[in-house]
Amino acid sequence: MILIDGKITSGDIKDEIAIEVAKLKEQGGRAPHLAAILVGDDGASQTYVNAKVKACEKVGFESTLVRFSAETSEDELLAKIEEMNNDNGLDGFIVQLPLPNHINEHKVTVSINPDKDVDGFHPTNLGKMLLGQETFLPATPYGIMEMLKRYQIETSGKHAVVIGRSHIVGSPMSVLMGQKGIDCTVTLTHSRTKNLPEITKTADIVVVANGIPEFLTGNMVKDGVVVIDVGITRVEDKTKKSGFKLLGDVNFAEVSKKASHITPVPGGVGPMTIAMLMKNTLLSRKRRG
Ligand code: GUN
Repeated sequence: MILIDGKITSGDIKDEIAIEVAKLKEQGGRAPHLAAILVGDDGASQTYVNAKVKACEKVGFESTLVRFSAETSEDELLAKIEEMNNDNGLDGFIVQLPLPNHINEHKVTVSINPDKDVDGFHPTNLGKMLLGQETFLPATPYGIMEMLKRYQIETSGKHAVVIGRSHIVGSPMSVLMGQKGIDCTVTLTHSRTKNLPEITKTADIVVVANGIPEFLTGNMVKDGVVVIDVGITRVEDKTKKSGFKLLGDVNFAEVSKKASHITPVPGGVGPMTIAMLMKNTLLSRKRRG
């Protein structure tokens, strides 16, 4: 069994980005600049945004973190987005999800200028992805594609099963796995899928992104399967200093016995997501000249 190490791979990608940024600066160019908007004080979201800011420092980007209280109105948030859309010193920005219930997520997503949408969530960018055009790919699926490439996982003609159909992971993942050059036969499964174990047992590659801790068990996969675990759920654990442990959507102890390759949680997909956000921001900086 080979562990697909997202920590090492994302470190390699960030090193590559840092070299490009250093070159840009040497030539008198300005550093790429990424901003993040965080609304409310959800613990996990704060952790993710802090990690994004830290990654910016590591690769030599400028970063800005804008924090709003949970009571902030939709109009206030939209006004900030408009300001960022028009800020020429900014190459890209993200609004960390989830948002408080009184704010319409779709309205927020479509208000972001697609040319600064480094999360790749805007319908324009998702549409370009569907057409196979160059665009900002959503960071988590983009990170998974990069891991498969760097670990030289054979994809052509393979059966890829995606579990979960979220807009930010499962759905785009199913599109990318079927694209020309990757050439998987893709099955997109979800909570209404019948006989899921019968389907996953025929999979060469399984991407699990349904947010149910330890959902994929050993009896659901065949020997030699490649398993990508997108889940990261905080589960109470009094033995930990933080009071919680992180669980993926895969029962690692069982599935790792059968898998040829598998991602751990933590240290798998998570760090890759951040590295690909940096890559999208660098792309935006280059596009803007
Ligand atoms: N929440 C969970 N994943 C993501 C992500 O990739 N981007 C943003 N903005 N919010 C998220």
